Amino acid sequence: MVSFTPSSLRRMGFVPGTVVETILTTIASDGTPNAAPMGVWVHPGSNLVIRPYAETQTAKNLLEVPEAVINITDDSRIFFNTAFKRRGTDTEDFFFDPSKSVRPPRLRGMLGYLEVEIEEPLKPQEIENPLEYECKIKEVDAPSRLPQVYSRARFAAIESVIHATRIVALSDSDPDLTERLYRLVQEYHSLVHRIAPNSVHSGVVDDVLYLVKQLVYWL
Ligand SMILES: Cc1cc2nc3c(=O)[nH]c(=O)nc-3n(C[C@H](O)[C@H](O)[C@H](O)COP(=O)(O)O)c2cc1C
Repeated sequence: MVSFTPSSLRRMGFVPGTVVETILTTIASDGTPNAAPMGVWVHPGSNLVIRPYAETQTAKNLLEVPEAVINITDDSRIFFNTAFKRRGTDTEDFFFDPSKSVRPPRLRGMLGYLEVEIEEPLKPQEIENPLEYECKIKEVDAPSRLPQVYSRARFAAIESVIHATRIVALSDSDPDLTERLYRLVQEYHSLVHRIAPNSVHSGVVDDVLYLVKQLVYWL
């Protein structure tokens, strides 16, 4: 059994009462791995709850194999690549490594890992949208690293990726919200180009803008 405490989780940023953004890795019953950005809700006592929408591959996988890895990163490129399944070029890739105590793999090169089991897998008749899964932590791996300065560019790039996933999901059903989110994506794009013009983050916001314009023809 691995030792970790609510206070060690807090020091990793899992502060009760907040939702934190992570990359969740899961597997289907045939063993195919999947990685997708997912929020993790930190409830009192540091109980962790994930809330994937039923349409996502993540939700489907968790119904089949109720285990996951919460991969910790602040890399905007990894958020983009895993959200939109970008693989195969130097900048657009991610790799899997075996986990220690669960079947879904870890993502290579992350800042830390929480391997978790889903407490009570849902029965089909209990499914709501989004689904709610409480996580039981089996293993925590958090290599120490130097402190990181706050970067508005990183924040803005990751926000853009979140908005892009919502734009793609909502463009048919909610054009007003889609337009509002699109304006935010445009604002973050110009912010990042002002403060980090030649960085991983400017590459991500360029890709986000290009992708949403391609996928939502009327924007
Ligand atoms: C930072 C971030 C957080 C996200 N959080 C969630 C979430 O909590 N639940 C959800 O269903 N989708 C969330 N999304 C959107 C999914 O990542 C996106 O729909 C993804 O394509 C789902 O992939 P999958 O079908 O492989 O599971 C988030 C996206 C980002 C960028």
